[in-house]
Amino acid sequence: MTSHIGSGNHIGEGERYTTTNRYTTNNAGIPVASDSESLTAGTQGPVLLHDHYLVEKLAQFNRERVPERVVHAKGGGAFGELVVTGDVSRYTKAKLFAPGARTESLVRFSTVAGEQGSPDTWRDPRGFAVKFYTEEGNYDLVGNNTPVFFIRDAIKFPDFIRSQKRLPGSGLRDHNMQWDFWTLSPESAHQVTWLMGDRGIPKTWRHMDGFGSHTYQWVNAEGERFWVKYHFKTNPGIEFLTQDEADRLAGSSPDVHRQDLYQSIERGEFPSWTLKVQIMPVDDAEDYRFNPFDLTKVWSQKDYPLIEVGTWTLNRNPENFFAEIEQASFEPSNVVPGVGFSPDKMLLGRVFSYADAHRYRIGTNYAQLPVNSPKAAAQLNTYSKEGSMAYRFSSADTPVYAPNSYGGAHADPSVAGDEGVWNFGESAVRAGYITHAEDDDFGQAGTMVREVLDDAARERLLNNIVGHVLDGVREPVLSRVFEYWRNVDEDLGKKVEEGVRAGQA
Ligand code: HEM
Repeated sequence: MTSHIGSGNHIGEGERYTTTNRYTTNNAGIPVASDSESLTAGTQGPVLLHDHYLVEKLAQFNRERVPERVVHAKGGGAFGELVVTGDVSRYTKAKLFAPGARTESLVRFSTVAGEQGSPDTWRDPRGFAVKFYTEEGNYDLVGNNTPVFFIRDAIKFPDFIRSQKRLPGSGLRDHNMQWDFWTLSPESAHQVTWLMGDRGIPKTWRHMDGFGSHTYQWVNAEGERFWVKYHFKTNPGIEFLTQDEADRLAGSSPDVHRQDLYQSIERGEFPSWTLKVQIMPVDDAEDYRFNPFDLTKVWSQKDYPLIEVGTWTLNRNPENFFAEIEQASFEPSNVVPGVGFSPDKMLLGRVFSYADAHRYRIGTNYAQLPVNSPKAAAQLNTYSKEGSMAYRFSSADTPVYAPNSYGGAHADPSVAGDEGVWNFGESAVRAGYITHAEDDDFGQAGTMVREVLDDAARERLLNNIVGHVLDGVREPVLSRVFEYWRNVDEDLGKKVEEGVRAGQA
């Protein structure tokens, strides 16, 4: 099956064109008479409606924006390459992870709650969305700079996000609303501890780790299955901003992270990460001390050490921000053979949600845009056709339905089950996760406070919490905030209360 893309047209797929030293044309390629004067009835008369170039110009301008992403609206990105230096072929047959493989990729980094134009240095998790253009199709790993999340069931996501955005009446952001949701959702404690600590404001996007966050499934060439978690470890090392530094930059340089990424690539100082994974044999899952599919938990690296996969480097800036970053569409449903899903309820919710968002935000045929198109795929034989703005089409003799008797594409049963296989053996229920031996909403957050942070980092965490809470949190939420932090760590909780009371005095 062949596709004709932009055939017979010298402005083809994703082709750039220059306007330097040429005459201006309208969208139909016809020369226009003036860039600056409308057609009028005499010099003083009204503007004439048949100045269709003026109409085209104004109408096009009115349509220059697509809706911003409902979350992660502010961001920036670049292209790069994954080079596999390790050997994980006994865990996955995915070709992009084969020893020595090189795969072009795109990343978009972002904040979560801020709108387009909001400062890069607001305290927030950072999105870390990666698209790998593999020969088996596009593989999207849409993660964050934290290994955990605030909630563990997709059904709470719209409520969670509304609590982090703006009040309906005043349009203002509101810390009381944030802490109200967090303290009524104790599963948030681990992620909130990350957020209020140093990782809540990275110095640049280059100086933060990335995580696939969810548990995924890998399957190898023999059909053996493993649970896997992805970690991108920054090669320059973790660096962060203090609240004061971040507040200053929010005023003086709100695009500082977008600028840093762009300029470091322009300078040839290419940001890089080492991609590592944790692997859990499938049978371990049932008895592991934490429920391994609960996104509010990490797996201890003592239990499942990091295994090196390769080096991921960003080496090319977008040529056009709108075409290549704003219209980029990442979707957790894009997994390639050898990679599958897990029973993580958040992940399964996301598998539905993103393509739906793109159809609304960008349009039905968003996957045909050059940046989203599976440009390295060995084949593209989709039966999707037509719809708004479709321009990719098959040759006229290609059947448009399956099954058919005329040589049209047919499914490949050998990849059945690659999307993830597990036993659920129960009827449909609405229930939480099965609780494993050490599962408790505050446990891992407390371990982080006591065993991972040093004294200085603990002090900054305390000050960040106190500063945040003093900015508008009131009863009955306030008492719950003190209790929340006492549940994480008795001593920290006591100090949060003392700090807030002193600040209120
Ligand atoms: C963006 C939904 C949880 C990472 C988005 C978008 C939606 C969405 C609708 C906007 C997509 C677009 O318009 O292009 C959800 C839902 C979630 C969820 C329903 C919960 C079930 C998460 C989690 C992570 C995450 C847990 C990270 C581990 C991202 C990133 C983006 C994003 C990085 C920005 C992608 C880009 O740069 O274009 N999410 N999300 N989301 N989400 Fe989620």
